[in-house]
Amino acid sequence: MRVAVTGGCGFIGSAVVRHLMEGTSHQVLNVDCMTYAASEETVAAVASDPRYRHVRISINDQPAVEKALAEFQPDAIMHLAAESHVDRSIEGPGAFIQTNIVGTYCLLDVARRYWMGLDGAKKAGFRFLHISTDEVFGHLSPEDPPFTEETAYDPRSPYSASKAASDHLVRAWYHTYGFPAFVTNTTNNYGPWHFPEKLIPLMIINALEGKPLPVYGKGENLRDWLFVEDHARALVRAVEHGRPGETYAIGARQPRSNLEVVRRICALLDELEPDPAGPRERLITFVSDRPGHDFRYEIDPSHAERCLDWEAEHDFETGLRRTVQWYLDNRAWWQRLRRQRYDGRRLGAEA
Ligand code: TYD
Repeated sequence: MRVAVTGGCGFIGSAVVRHLMEGTSHQVLNVDCMTYAASEETVAAVASDPRYRHVRISINDQPAVEKALAEFQPDAIMHLAAESHVDRSIEGPGAFIQTNIVGTYCLLDVARRYWMGLDGAKKAGFRFLHISTDEVFGHLSPEDPPFTEETAYDPRSPYSASKAASDHLVRAWYHTYGFPAFVTNTTNNYGPWHFPEKLIPLMIINALEGKPLPVYGKGENLRDWLFVEDHARALVRAVEHGRPGETYAIGARQPRSNLEVVRRICALLDELEPDPAGPRERLITFVSDRPGHDFRYEIDPSHAERCLDWEAEHDFETGLRRTVQWYLDNRAWWQRLRRQRYDGRRLGAEA
């Protein structure tokens, strides 16, 4: 297959690109305009392969995307380009509206015209996979069953509202134009190359630097953690075998409270690189809560496991150990990011 991946230098997108390159024989076009969260190093291991190409263009730039698709002639598009950090969406929602909603519209519009120009088997086989989040379903209380593909939408942050809008656009293109699109919704991902503004990498790095570990509220909020390489395998299964109009909810059945996550990171670091000053749990600092903080996300992935013949290989313990070890082994990458400022916002939430 010839697969175009948007956002292929981001955290999940780059895991998809690496898996496509290392685990399949597909050709890859990486469409990434390189925002603050993108990094060339994430795909450096595969970038010199003749099966791989990167074009530095925005999904909002329709003429450029049109030209890239015409040249590459994809059999599938995997759409991962998005703004994804909830705290940023609270401070500045505009970029989320522009990239996640307007950008998805621009891409759908160009992709549909490209698809209409195809003929025969190429047109029948074309797929558009839109990668989304479980946050579009709102949040759960402790006694609620996990989200499934049937859960009604109820987004509560500017980020999740923008992703919900983009999911609705994708489904409208399927129903209205017969455009062969489908959607995946996933739980919180973690693993190598995760940008250090998110909970897990932020806590690993702050703990290594002996800085406070800022836990919002009481740390009781629950997230369901999926190792990013397991997610990438699920997405490639989906683009190869998924059905237009379908939804696949992807997760690993690994819910943990934030405090459990941070404590586990401290324990792993204490084991792998002891701190002469003492156990890292001393750094845990409870800070004021995120406004509108969703309490709990959790997915029942039974449908995706059955339809895609896929299952997560990592539980939270094995995935977190690999992740912590990766951050210990790849300091140059995150130390460079740590020295930089992004849009005036200091990275690493100095508590
Ligand atoms: P995050 O990684 O931002 O993902 P999301 O909000 O999309 O789930 O946050 C994961 C959880 O960790 C969330 O409940 C907020 C919490 N959190 C903290 O307690 N402290 C932090 O510094 C950050 C970034 C997040």
